[in-house]
Amino acid sequence: MKISAPRGTFDILPEEALRWRWLEAAIRRVFDYYGYQEIRTPVFEHTELFQRGIGETTDIVEKEMYTFNDKGGRSLTLRPEGTAPVVRSYVEHKLYSKGGITKLFYMGPMFRQERPQAGRFRQFHQFGVELLGTESPLADAEVITVAVELYKELGLTDLEVLVNSIGCPACRKKYQEDLFSRLSSLQELCESCLRRLEKNPMRILDCKNPRCRELTKDVPAVTDYLCPACRDHLEKTLSFLDKAGIDYRLEPRLVRGFDYYTRTVFEVINAGLGAQNAVCGGGRYDHLVEEIGGPPMPGVGFASGMERLILTLEQQGKFAGFSSAPQVAFAVLDETLAADGFALATRLRREGLTVEACLEVKSLKAQMRAAGKLQAKFVVILGEDEWKDGQVSVRRMADGEQWRVDREEVCRFIKDLLDRDSSGREQERGSFS
Ligand code: HAM
Repeated sequence: MKISAPRGTFDILPEEALRWRWLEAAIRRVFDYYGYQEIRTPVFEHTELFQRGIGETTDIVEKEMYTFNDKGGRSLTLRPEGTAPVVRSYVEHKLYSKGGITKLFYMGPMFRQERPQAGRFRQFHQFGVELLGTESPLADAEVITVAVELYKELGLTDLEVLVNSIGCPACRKKYQEDLFSRLSSLQELCESCLRRLEKNPMRILDCKNPRCRELTKDVPAVTDYLCPACRDHLEKTLSFLDKAGIDYRLEPRLVRGFDYYTRTVFEVINAGLGAQNAVCGGGRYDHLVEEIGGPPMPGVGFASGMERLILTLEQQGKFAGFSSAPQVAFAVLDETLAADGFALATRLRREGLTVEACLEVKSLKAQMRAAGKLQAKFVVILGEDEWKDGQVSVRRMADGEQWRVDREEVCRFIKDLLDRDSSGREQERGSFS
């Protein structure tokens, strides 16, 4: 029986992997500009971390976690997101003890047992930042700005930034109570919303069911309930975004599905993606560090889905012209030259050219066809007579022009032509560092 990849997972095949590498390099470059340092945490954690961090009554913890007991009987969970693990590590290693602000970024696979659909997977990849150690609304503005500027750097357009504030536990309490008394008589709400009503009525605003949206369209906005300090925090965050020229829309229904959020929440949306249109989500979490056993320490961050970002880049034609073609392919015409061809290919690679060596000596025609398939820019041909004269032939595939070149000179010769074509490797591959 054939075995395929598990439902909701996928392989990243070589052509696709090139895009991922380009994107990962761009992400790292932008995070470097902003001074975020990389952190890598395990792919699985103690289940309790997510129960406490994300919240027992959230969809993720209730329904979507891959949880298992290991042979020692410990309950472990494949991480469904990166914030709780990063905060766990921050607390465990006392990264706060240096004082001041800590700025971290991460990238890697996450796991949620959701119903797979376009843009929604069971193993997916996130990159994100967590900025810990300040309550300042400048931090909220910076985190939103990092995401927006990264998308700009990638050349993306038509993305919308939605911002809201869900206040602190004190202002949210009153809001939740009012929502409960307004909505508790509505038996027409969907099953999930009826459950949310008991546990966390604010999450009803997040429901995508059109009937629930209609029933809740006139409920007051959470922003009407903000205490003066939370209101001031929101206004300052928005004014910093205004000043920095970051466009956004205040969206009072945006509440997000994690219990750790306080005050600012935000999402970046690509409307062209359909139902799963959020390329990025984030917010402030001023009590999470304490919840996980650390000192009182505010934080704010975001995570963005690589798959949805790649879909967006594809939609907007940003991968046109990407290729993994080698600069040079070798054609060796006689078995006796196989070792010399291999040695010369190795030298060219040492000099920094991308080279496909000849691994099977065949007819010139077959080898030229293979080089054409690879879309090699040049073919170095080793024939007996030329080799005896210390030479090889170099053919430019674009126009078929061919030169006889001293074999000691072949590397410099090809590099000169590549420079002249201005079709060097950096440009060809989308300039990844
Ligand atoms: P989230 O909104 O659950 O937030 O996920 C962030 C992003 O990950 C989403 O906007 C989406 O692009 C992507 N994503 C989520 N689930 C899937 C899925 N099943 N398939 C494909 N992509 C997906 C968080 O995870 C928070 N930890 C963000 C955060 C960081 N808040 C503060 N700091």
